[in-house]
Amino acid sequence: MSRHTNVTPTSKEYTLKPDDLIVTKTDLKGNLTYANDKFLSISVLNETETLGQPHSIIRHPDMPKAVFHLLWDTIKRGNEFFGVVKNMSTDGSFYWVLANITPSYDEQHKVIGFFSVRRQANKELINTMDNLYQQMLQEEKRHGDKQAIKASTQILNNFFDEQGVSYDEYILSFV
Ligand SMILES: Cc1cc2nc3c(=O)[nH]c(=O)nc-3n(C[C@H](O)[C@H](O)[C@H](O)COP(=O)(O)O)c2cc1C
Repeated sequence: MSRHTNVTPTSKEYTLKPDDLIVTKTDLKGNLTYANDKFLSISVLNETETLGQPHSIIRHPDMPKAVFHLLWDTIKRGNEFFGVVKNMSTDGSFYWVLANITPSYDEQHKVIGFFSVRRQANKELINTMDNLYQQMLQEEKRHGDKQAIKASTQILNNFFDEQGVSYDEYILSFV
């Protein structure tokens, strides 16, 4: 059995160092086509068991569905996504990142896949998003599938409306 199946999350955190850069590439469906050594070592995976797998192999159960919905919605429109993500390694530990995901184009300007770079996220930003994600997750658990994303996205939008900034403005102020 692969190491990424049936992982039990633990409370052990790996804190990224200021110069840690985690890079991956995927095809159009989000299956991994490239992972740098930092990704492999932090995730406790080797290249053979990683390439061809869906990017969700490092998905942490604490992450709300609505965040990934926003991520895919943004990149499928050809835009750049910035977000704070809690990921899970195959040893069950977790690490927070500030992720940037962009479409990759061929010479005819056709989207051929996606490219992502993650680095250390600001502590204050992590705390804010962690809090918000917990509320969103709770809301998602109260609802059925389609409704869950809608209701949880509403919490995300309300939060930024109250701050008087857009999601992108807020995240980008920490970049
Ligand atoms: C380039 C790229 C990078 C991604 N990086 C992550 C990541 O670091 N962590 C993560 O959980 N999902 C990441 N995703 C999103 C996953 O594809 C997936 O939507 C997410 O893990 C939720 O899994 P699910 O859609 O099966 O519920 C990334 C997607 C793309 C295209």
